[in-house]
Amino acid sequence: MNEVADTRNSFSADATILVVDDEPANLAVLNEVLQPYFRVRVVRSGADALRAVATEPWPDLMLLDVMMPEMDGYKVLARLREAPANRDLPVIFVTAMDSIENERRGLELGAVDYITKPISPAIVLARVRNQLELKRARDWLANQNAYLSKEVERRVQENQQAQLQLLQSEKLAAIGLLAAGLAHEINNPVCFVRSNLGSLAGYLQDLFDLLDAYGALEKSCPADALPSTIRDLKIRTDYAFIRQDCGQLISESQEGIGRVAQLVSDLKSFSRADDKQWRSVILHTGLDSTLNIIGNEIKYHCTLKKAYGNIPEVYCLPSQINQVFLNLLVNAAQAIPGKGEITITTGQAGSEVFVTIADTGAGIANEDLPRLFDPFFTTKPVGQGTGLGLSIAYGIVQKHLGRIDVKSTVGKGTAFTVWLPIKPSPATSSAE
Ligand SMILES: Nc1ncnc2c1ncn2[C@@H]1O[C@H](COP(=O)(O)OP(=O)(O)OP(=O)(O)O)[C@@H](O)[C@H]1O
Ligand SMILES: [Mg+2]
Repeated sequence: MNEVADTRNSFSADATILVVDDEPANLAVLNEVLQPYFRVRVVRSGADALRAVATEPWPDLMLLDVMMPEMDGYKVLARLREAPANRDLPVIFVTAMDSIENERRGLELGAVDYITKPISPAIVLARVRNQLELKRARDWLANQNAYLSKEVERRVQENQQAQLQLLQSEKLAAIGLLAAGLAHEINNPVCFVRSNLGSLAGYLQDLFDLLDAYGALEKSCPADALPSTIRDLKIRTDYAFIRQDCGQLISESQEGIGRVAQLVSDLKSFSRADDKQWRSVILHTGLDSTLNIIGNEIKYHCTLKKAYGNIPEVYCLPSQINQVFLNLLVNAAQAIPGKGEITITTGQAGSEVFVTIADTGAGIANEDLPRLFDPFFTTKPVGQGTGLGLSIAYGIVQKHLGRIDVKSTVGKGTAFTVWLPIKPSPATSSAE
């Protein structure tokens, strides 16, 4: 033993060596050599060895006798390698057979080394330590590899997320810019048309009053006193109709321009490109503005039902929350193939406000549910959907410390519910 005492190293103590030999004397010798440095388990047959590798303490290395009754070492090794869990367990053959052929056969079967009997303790210890060292390096590499691939995956995801956020803010900014620009451009003409229509209505009334006065004069004159040109003109221009229709034209135009003005103001409140301001708002205002903007997408084939509850103001980024409503409403409308119904329900539950957008559309297949909020997941034909709507909505709602629930039945419809805390924590409100 003395000749090997100084080769002992620190990691050995917690390694477990499984020694397999049918000869008790051989087991005793190997046990004596190894036991001061390792945890040693001994078994006397191949069958016991195969059982032992599946029980704790898990062996880190096996010393395997070749010549054994019933199942020899080669068979044990072959059976061992069949189980994926045992493929990496280093096996050193220990045998009196020292022919090159036997050695080759053992190594081919996957043994890592070969020790011949009678054994030299120093050689046994050196070889065992080498193999343990190698195994430790292999395990370390495998761990490093697993860690690195996880790290790469995490970074790729982070990158995707960052790109998505960039895309989202670009999309929001683009919509906001467009809306703000349009609203500004349309606002001026709308204002003067509106004001001119008011003046025009007043002027027309004055003109009609004047004509009425002439009419009264006309009645008091003898019939042939009125020049024929005036009589003909009255008949040709259908004065009676013009008079009646003018009022209607003016009021229809006033109503029309009123609607345009409302749309402009909705556009403004819907999306302000530079709006990074957290504010307390009643979500119904945002819902109504959004509905006005996407009216066309909905009104021809959907009946819209509003079941607005009594909700308090919510502290949020209003234009971003409107973006969430827009994405959910457009999805709902697109999910309805023929005629259908969209119901918007709002309410309060504890410290949260909820907005449910339910449709009677196609529904969502069970296997699609886990992927709904993934960026770029879409079931729509190329060119119709980018698959970003829900992932953008998800990101915005998360920023508000809220959540989105989905309930769907194929063929019956889908309900998305957005839950928002009435007042998210102060940390959130300082974020963009
Ligand atoms: N109300 C709904 N009913 C049925 N399926 C829906 C509904 N909302 C979303 N989906 C499904 O979820 C998928 C992803 O929706 P998402 O809004 O993220 O992308 P998209 O609508 O396909 O494209 P984009 O919104 O970018 O134009 C849709 O393609 C659709 O299959
Ligand atoms: Mg969508």
